[in-house]
Amino acid sequence: MSELPDPGATTTMQAGQPAAADGPISGEVSGRASAVVCSGLTYRFGTYTAVNNVDLRIERGETFGLLGPNGAGKTTTIRMLTTLLRPMGGTISVLGVNVAERPMLVRRMIGYVPQLLSADATLTGRENVELFARLFDVPRSQRHDRVESALAAMGLTEPASRLVKTYSGGMIRRLELAQALVNSPSLLVLDEPTVGLDPIARTDVWEYIAALREQTDMTVLMTTHYMDEADTYCNRIALMHAGSIRATGSPGLLKAMLGDGATLDEVFRHYTGGTLDDNTESGGIRDVRRARRTARRLG
Ligand SMILES: Nc1ncnc2c1ncn2[C@@H]1O[C@H](COP(=O)(O)OP(=O)(O)OP(=O)(O)O)[C@@H](O)[C@H]1O
Ligand SMILES: [Mg+2]
Repeated sequence: MSELPDPGATTTMQAGQPAAADGPISGEVSGRASAVVCSGLTYRFGTYTAVNNVDLRIERGETFGLLGPNGAGKTTTIRMLTTLLRPMGGTISVLGVNVAERPMLVRRMIGYVPQLLSADATLTGRENVELFARLFDVPRSQRHDRVESALAAMGLTEPASRLVKTYSGGMIRRLELAQALVNSPSLLVLDEPTVGLDPIARTDVWEYIAALREQTDMTVLMTTHYMDEADTYCNRIALMHAGSIRATGSPGLLKAMLGDGATLDEVFRHYTGGTLDDNTESGGIRDVRRARRTARRLG
């Protein structure tokens, strides 16, 4: 890569302050910088603080799980990290690049599978992946091979020529993983990547990501509500509740701290107080109410 970030450099961002333009950059990404450093990260929706002064450091090559109940602030954190939301306080650097100063450079280093399905249903599977390859600057000479191998890795070679509107939910999820991987990202961000997948597809997805991590030094940041996935695949996890990080450590350490034979489910309950946010006006319960209203509307 031919760009020079300022290793580890962060500057405080203020709400409403325009992000600096992506100017010309030269040099190389530092080999020493952590994959992600968040410091004092804060975001509010109106008067509700969804992310409250979060400090987070993820090292290169780690698979890091951000866990927490509905409404904890995981997706909001991820959207700031992936440049989609501007933080109202605090700083983020990704592989030594200040996200506020060089958002486009950060985007090129990231593969992102959002929580909500995002593939274009009116295109074929292959066209969706090709679109991402172009968007993320995969060199023209490599595009064909990279698109085909990303499709093959996700078991989508055969249906690749079909329109995505004919895909099942699980196939769309796998397609989105192919999209996220086509630019060989240094940081892969997965927001509930396996929701809706059958057990075999879930295992396939994780095994593929684990194999990729062994071949490259790709860092993975993921959220999941499946504690077995976090336990098996994460080197470290952070438990988030009501906008704050309550505990960070390896699954083994967090379980051991709770006592002999503790499970990750018990760790989750211990730090987050159950599965629904206790703030009835925001977070989990409100989300559930909203989902039920939508379900009724759709009949
Ligand atoms: N666009 C928005 N407008 C207003 N409030 C929002 C918006 N997006 C999120 N919130 C609120 O911010 C809080 C954090 O939401 P977020 O989506 O980050 O939670 P999460 O941890 O990802 O939850 P889940 O596990 O359900 O995906 C919740 O209370 C949510 O209702
Ligand atoms: Mg979420």
